[in-house]
Amino acid sequence: MKYLGNKKSGKDPQYRNIIESYEITRKRNINIHWYMLGFFVVLLILYLFTLNLQRVEDVTVINLDTRQSVHRRTSTRYLSYGLDTSLLRDMKTLPINDKRFVMLAHHLSPAYVRVGGTSADCLFFDETPSSSADKIFDPINGEDISNFTITHKDFLALSRFARKSGARMIFDLNVLLRRPDGSWNYSDAEKIIPLARAHNIELDWQLGNEPNSFHHVFNRTVTATQLASDYTDLRKLLDDNGYESSNLIGPEVNHIGDANHKGELYGAEFLKHANTSVTYFSWHQYYLNGHIATVEDFINRTVFDYLANQINSLSNFIRGYHIRVWLSETSSAWGSGAPNLSDRFVAGFLWLDKLGYSAWAGIDVVTRQSFFGGHYALVAHDLTPNPDWWVSVIYKQFVSERVLDPPILDSKALRLYWHCTAKSALINRVPAITQYGVHLDNKPMKVAIRMINPAPLKSITLHLYVLTADHLQSRFIKMNNQTLMLRPDGKLPPFNPIILDPDEKIELPPHSMYFLIYHGMQIPACEV
Ligand SMILES: *[C@@H]1O[C@H](CO)[C@@H](O)[C@H](O)[C@H]1NC(C)=O
Ligand SMILES: *[C@@H]1O[C@H](CO)[C@@H](O)[C@H](O)[C@H]1NC(C)=O
Ligand SMILES: *[C@@H]1O[C@H](CO)[C@@H](O)[C@H](O)[C@H]1NC(C)=O
Ligand SMILES: *[C@@H]1O[C@H](CO)[C@@H](O)[C@H](O)[C@H]1NC(C)=O
Ligand SMILES: *[C@@H]1O[C@H](CO)[C@@H](O)[C@H](O)[C@H]1NC(C)=O
Ligand SMILES: *[C@@H]1O[C@H](CO)[C@@H](O)[C@H](O)[C@H]1NC(C)=O
Ligand SMILES: *[C@@H]1O[C@H](CO)[C@@H](O)[C@H](O)[C@H]1NC(C)=O
Repeated sequence: MKYLGNKKSGKDPQYRNIIESYEITRKRNINIHWYMLGFFVVLLILYLFTLNLQRVEDVTVINLDTRQSVHRRTSTRYLSYGLDTSLLRDMKTLPINDKRFVMLAHHLSPAYVRVGGTSADCLFFDETPSSSADKIFDPINGEDISNFTITHKDFLALSRFARKSGARMIFDLNVLLRRPDGSWNYSDAEKIIPLARAHNIELDWQLGNEPNSFHHVFNRTVTATQLASDYTDLRKLLDDNGYESSNLIGPEVNHIGDANHKGELYGAEFLKHANTSVTYFSWHQYYLNGHIATVEDFINRTVFDYLANQINSLSNFIRGYHIRVWLSETSSAWGSGAPNLSDRFVAGFLWLDKLGYSAWAGIDVVTRQSFFGGHYALVAHDLTPNPDWWVSVIYKQFVSERVLDPPILDSKALRLYWHCTAKSALINRVPAITQYGVHLDNKPMKVAIRMINPAPLKSITLHLYVLTADHLQSRFIKMNNQTLMLRPDGKLPPFNPIILDPDEKIELPPHSMYFLIYHGMQIPACEV
């Protein structure tokens, strides 16, 4: 991803002209300078005066139309997470049997847990791969792409983890197992699918990972037409084994929004031939290269806009297919995330904004890469939550699948979204709406909400939850000034709101995220 802009240098001819004409003027008349100086001093005083006024008066006003209908509805498992298949290379160190680990996942239920990734196309089942034991690494990320094997016990352990965590597993099968005629060799799938059925495991399926990039990663090619045919084979296999109602999610393309539109073209070609065998269209999204990303990138408004451009570009290619879209693997930075950034407070801005924007734009499920492992994990290696885990848990608590219009993007560094409030957060089942957003500026901001068509405001109470940290790269996250910590028994701490009147202005600290619930708000779209 290229985004290192060209810094304007002194060689700019325009700039040189300005210097030259300045030199000439200086030689002509030195006296004019005294008048100019006086003039500028007056200007400066006036400027400082108005600046000061603005600081007092500077309030961002946001309009809310209370008579709107629901704009979109996401899956109830909208916020989901991945366990990268590379973790299965060393099942002994993967803590899926650890109680704390299960508890941390359970706080994010209901969700999908996607077991997929580059290593899915290296995965063999219950047999030793014929290859040598030497490790092989992909030329792009240096990721291990040697073949490896999992046993049926490993598969059952994963499904047990999913069940105990209140998650539904999505299992990504190896599409690089191929027959001499180029079609998919499903002999492993013919073992895994009946095994899952025999244990009554409810799950969904995928076939392969980022197939449009196989050439770069594996030096292999599977065309979109061929992949569609392989998905049709898998659909038949599932239908024949009692998984008629399982979802098949594909084609897992990446590089959406590139100038050559290769990802979109591959996806559209796939859909053209896959017919009804695929239930949801899926793609992968990252903003930044984890190896070079900086803390400024994580709060740079231009970076936030990449996602909208990618979603728009994709829609232009697949609009005719009327299929729901999943962001089935996504995080802020690729290459396992950015060290000391993707697992810190600052990562929350892109994450929360992605959740808001994608829901508004019609994405059905967003699968966070990753629950565990890499710099972008929600849960750290010592099984304590990273800040994004907290952001995710709070999101689940307060935000429902009913999305309202419109988002406010970039009104003076504020990006915000509206949903009906999640049922579990309602007080006495009284309807409520949740507004949430990110404030990217390094100065405080005042926000006022103006309701259009309001019901009587008297019955409304605002509950505000502001998320901050001591510094952008903090490992900790604070809610209303209190560092969030799990209780010793692994339960969530109480989330204590700041309670406000509906006409009170909201004060957002510099670099903050927030959730604001309007309890008692009469908005027909959110009636329960
Ligand atoms: C934000 O990102 C854009 C695009 O990469 C870049 O041109 C700009 O200089 C960045 N701004 C800051 C403040 O870093
Ligand atoms: C890994 O398995 C694939 C079949 O999926 C095979 O084509 C490839 O040669 C194997 N790689 C190695 C390094 O043995
Ligand atoms: C499919 O793969 C299995 C296991 O590697 C192998 O035994 C079988 O011969 C392959 N089938 C075809 C048609 O290539
Ligand atoms: C890619 O595969 C082809 C054969 O399919 C081989 O000739 C070529 O050397 C391979 N390239 C790399 C970089 O391994
Ligand atoms: C999709 O449907 C068309 C027409 O019904 C058929 O010709 C084509 O073979 C199907 N594609 C696949 C991959 O089954
Ligand atoms: C991340 O921070 C730790 C200290 O907190 C430091 O030791 C390490 O070098 C940093 N890593 C990178 C890649 O900056
Ligand atoms: C949080 O702390 C800051 C600085 O100590 C203070 O100005 C602010 O009022 C506090 N906010 C809340 C909600 O307690």
